[in-house]
Parts: sequence; structure tokens; C-alpha cells
Amino acid sequence: MKKRKLKLKKGAQKNLTIFGAIILVLVIVFSFYFNKINELKSIGYSSEAAKNIIFSFKYSYVIDIGENKTLNAAFESDDYKKENFDSYVKIEYQNQKNLISNINKLLKKGYSDNEVSLIISRGDDDAVSEFANRDKVKYVEEFLSVSYSKLVNYDRYVAYQDKENDDAKTTVLYVNMDFDKEEYEDPTIIDDFDNYVLVNKHRQLSNEYVPDDLVSIDKEYVKSDGEVEIERSVAKAFYDMADAASKEGLELMVSSGYRSYEDQEEIVNTYLNLYGQNYVDNYVAKPGFSEHQTAMSLDVASKSVATFVNSDEYTWMMDNAYKYGFILRYPKSKEDITGYKCEAWHYRYVGKKIAKYIKEHNITYDEYYVMFLDN
Ligand code: DAL
Ligand code: ZN
Repeated sequence: MKKRKLKLKKGAQKNLTIFGAIILVLVIVFSFYFNKINELKSIGYSSEAAKNIIFSFKYSYVIDIGENKTLNAAFESDDYKKENFDSYVKIEYQNQKNLISNINKLLKKGYSDNEVSLIISRGDDDAVSEFANRDKVKYVEEFLSVSYSKLVNYDRYVAYQDKENDDAKTTVLYVNMDFDKEEYEDPTIIDDFDNYVLVNKHRQLSNEYVPDDLVSIDKEYVKSDGEVEIERSVAKAFYDMADAASKEGLELMVSSGYRSYEDQEEIVNTYLNLYGQNYVDNYVAKPGFSEHQTAMSLDVASKSVATFVNSDEYTWMMDNAYKYGFILRYPKSKEDITGYKCEAWHYRYVGKKIAKYIKEHNITYDEYYVMFLDN
């Protein structure tokens, strides 16, 4: 059979060449595009952000910068503003819903990149959004540079410093401890309980609160009528401590441990009748405000000496309690901070690491909690 060569007309041939060239260009452009997308993804950008980076012609800048979570969030957001590009790079990322729109608002108000970083790091999305909607304020760096500062307390810091003239660090510490409020006035209601809970004259437990893991202290260690209950880990630490003390001929005992809301109510009434309101204010917590309701603290006694502060057991506790995780909760030198007169007998279990820190730095648990645990 005779083969017939398929011959295209000249015009059609030309069209085919152009079509081929277009396809080729498209393939090159797309592979170039996908390569860049993949490169951006491999250094931590999302597909969405990578696409927007390329269409904003910022690809090489971003590659130079490398991974940057704020920039990623900015390019993912509809609120991206190209004039803020350099600031996004410098502002520390926070996982907040309105992050980029809040950053834009704060920058527009004239806050520096560092101030914006501090503002967004010291509050949650709601607090930051509220702050971003108010007029620019002063002293942002001063107060918010303190690592445990809180954006929601900003106005209280300013008011407290106006009044007391303390340095920023002290102001933040004292306001976070609610020293700008009267004792028992407008307390924080504790709804999130763990063994590190802080209870004081500004922090209240509900009257129904009963700790989970209560155990009875062995009778041989109890110096009071009836049984004494305490949280399990505290009991164990106390036995370890009492064993160590007994090796030195000392006899540590416990006169009080867990007290329910009602127990505390009874104690307040007893002492009120015996010694009056002033004594109660200085030595007895109102029901709901006693650390004894947490079962994390106990009153220590000496088996042989009636007044604990006069006993060798007391001297030993002052030197050694921290090694077993206990701190003297209301020391003489800290009465202004704890709100109680010195109680030589009242120890709080906080674990060995925290007890050592508190001992070495001569601070109270109230301060430790605000600085390291309250977030
Ligand atoms: N004595 C301490 C302060 C209390 O009543 O909890
Ligand atoms: Zn006590």
C-alpha cells in the first residue's frame, strides 16, 4: 500500500509551533512557581502564605529571612499590609486569632515593633484586641518588659506606681499580688486547682472544695485530738522529713493538716471568742481563704516542747525543711507580703525544687507564684 504523508498547510504548522511554545513556557513557569512554593514550604511557610509571598514579589526577601511565624501569619491573613512587612519580621509571633489585624492597629497608633511584641505577648487575643482599640498609652516598655506582667493589669500598674512610686518590677509584682486591693476585697475565685495552688487573702477557694487525694497521718505523728488528713504527697514528704529529724534525736509531729471550709469557720469563731478580731485578722484565715483547705500545708509541732518556736525541732526545720519540699509560709520578715503575723509552725509543701528556690532567694510563695506559676 502506498503511504500518504500527512501534510499540513503552512499556516496550520505555524499555529502548532506557537501552541507548542506556549505550552513549553507554561510548563516552565509552572514548574518554576511550584519549585518556589515548595522551597517556601520546606522552610516553614504554609501553601497559602507561600502563594501570597510569590504574588507579592517578596520571595527572595522571605528566603533570606528564613522561617518566621509572624510573617507566615501575615501572608496567610487578609489583613496583610505591605508597609508593615519589616515589622512583621521583627514582631514575635503569638498564636492569636486577630494577631495581624491587632499588629496593624498597634503599629498605626505609633507603637514600636518591640512595644507591639510586648503587648501581644502579655495578654490573650481578647485582651490584645481591647488594648489595640484604645489610644496610645505610655510606659508600655517599662511595665510590660517585666516577664510576669499582664496586659489586663496595665491601668492598675500605672495607678499603683502613681501612688507608691515603686520601680516597675515591684509595681507589677505587687499589683499581680492584688496589693492595690484591700484584703478579702474582690478576691480571685480559684477554679483551677492543682497542688501548686496559691491561697491567700486575695485568692479564695469555694466552700465546696475538697482535695482529691486525702490520707490520714499516722497516729504516732499526730499531736492533736482526732485524725489529721493531708494530701498524699505531703504525707510522704513529711514522713521522710520526720525520719531525718529523728536521726538527730528530734521528734516532729503534726497538729493540723487539711481543714474543710466548715472546720475553718469553727476555728475563726473559736479564736474570735478567745482573742478577738485583731488576733483573727493576724493569725486566722477566713473560711475559703485558708491554705489548710488545700491539704498542702500543715502545722508542725514538737513532741516534747509545747511552744514550737522554742523547740530544737523548730531550729532544725528552719535549716532543713526545704530539703523535703517544705517552706515556712508566713515568716517574720514577710508579714507585709503574706498578710499574716509570723507562724513558726505553718509549713507549705511545694516540692523540693521550689522550696530550694524560695529559701535561696528569701521570697514568699505569694511572690514565687506570681513570678513563675501564674499564667
Ligand atoms: N493560720 C493560717 C493563716 C490559716 O488560718 O490558714
Ligand atoms: Zn497553719
